[in-house]
Amino acid sequence: MPALVLLGAQWGDEGKGKATDLLGGSVDYVVRYQGGNNAGHTVVVGDQKYALHLLPSGILSPGCTPVIGNGVVVDPSVLFSELSGLNERGVDTSKLLVSGNAHIITPYNVTVDKVTERFLGKRKIGTTGRGIGPTYADKINRMGIRVQDLYDESILTQKVEAALDVKNQMLTKFYNRRAIATDQVVGELLGYAEKLRPYVADTVLVLNQALEQDKVVLFEGGQGTLLDIDHGTYPFVTSSNPTAGGACTGAGVGPTKITRVIGILKAYTTRVGAGPFPTELFDEDGEALRRIGGERGVTTGRDRRCGWFDAVIARYATRVNGLTDFFLTKLDVLTGWEQIPVCVAYEIDGKRVEELPYSQTDFHHAKPVYEMLPGWSEDITGAKSFSDLPKNAQAYVKALEEMSGAPISAIGVGPGRDETIQINSFL
Ligand code: GDP
Ligand code: IMO
Ligand code: MG
Repeated sequence: MPALVLLGAQWGDEGKGKATDLLGGSVDYVVRYQGGNNAGHTVVVGDQKYALHLLPSGILSPGCTPVIGNGVVVDPSVLFSELSGLNERGVDTSKLLVSGNAHIITPYNVTVDKVTERFLGKRKIGTTGRGIGPTYADKINRMGIRVQDLYDESILTQKVEAALDVKNQMLTKFYNRRAIATDQVVGELLGYAEKLRPYVADTVLVLNQALEQDKVVLFEGGQGTLLDIDHGTYPFVTSSNPTAGGACTGAGVGPTKITRVIGILKAYTTRVGAGPFPTELFDEDGEALRRIGGERGVTTGRDRRCGWFDAVIARYATRVNGLTDFFLTKLDVLTGWEQIPVCVAYEIDGKRVEELPYSQTDFHHAKPVYEMLPGWSEDITGAKSFSDLPKNAQAYVKALEEMSGAPISAIGVGPGRDETIQINSFL
């Protein structure tokens, strides 16, 4: 019953989509367990490029059943536009399963996300504006709308009414916006019900039965460890648990079932939106990483902030997720630097600190302590095995592995499926 969790070890955009797609051919189910269409996962298959936001990246592998778990927040309009975009390109999406317990991102949740950010001004989080935070807030407040509510008009109406009672007070009196009408929201949501019905399932039962039958299940995280609501750089985080525990609650699978936890780790660091980032670069090197790495958001088109590799963060990701492996991505982007700085520790108010400080104030004061590693100039995009890599690239990978606390079992040397060096099998 192999059950693998694949998640971001940094601030998202590590290359989870590529890694999931790579495994897609050998797994039976790929499950999203948290987040929603704030994710932007790029998958390159041959000369075709796909950008997935809500759907699991396994949807591109025939034979694999994609699952949207109970922990995900679903915007039905995004779901159907993503499905039809894939269908137009010849991808069969008929196997998709959507949990009846997943929460729905309603139009008012998107409105609240946008007005809140606008109101925060300089203090904004820099959210993707997709309604993620307000939808999870409603869920925790026990005011959320679930997929199953679309099949009981009376319950749906009562719930939307209750949610809007409070929100309309806030929208009209505080944010100076127009009130949102219950019947309009209910009408729009009911309009999705029949189209969605064939996909709705008891995904907890399906996944646990699959594991009992020795099927291979892969849990694909959105976002990343440092964006986790509990373990990330709060409040500059997303509103869910991308960390490994989130796979259990967000899919209804017990922790004893998980056999492997793979952290996707970029060979340098990026972040989108606001919040602390100790190794961030504001110079030509940062510009070069952005240009060579194509570091522009898949969801919002924003430039990603770029910086050197941070081993303190990688160690932290190993710890909070119980990582068994790393998949190191984008090593090819570092080709051409004579020397590559790697952050091995922080200096905080004059003291050397080896581990991620729990205090937000300390993290804001953290200055990177760099070790310089020798670079390489050879093109590595065609490398098929570890020994194909130049000696200095090998040494860079080994150094990162030692600092990060888990074996690097695969290395990405390009965006394509086959541009991967597999060192240890994940299955
Ligand atoms: P995700 O959100 O974690 O799935 O990552 P994104 O898709 O947002 O960003 C990763 C980007 O890097 C995408 O454009 C991928 O196609 C690309 N990518 C993934 N792995 C590699 C790699 O090893 N080398 C290079 N050059 N690009 C990669
Ligand atoms: P993938 O899955 C990078 C960031 C946003 C913002 C914060 C909160 O592609 O790695 P939200 O809309 O979630 O409330 O925004 O989280 N963020 C991401 N950054 N990659 C992502 O997803 C992200 N999803 C959310 O930029 O700072
Ligand atoms: Mg992304």
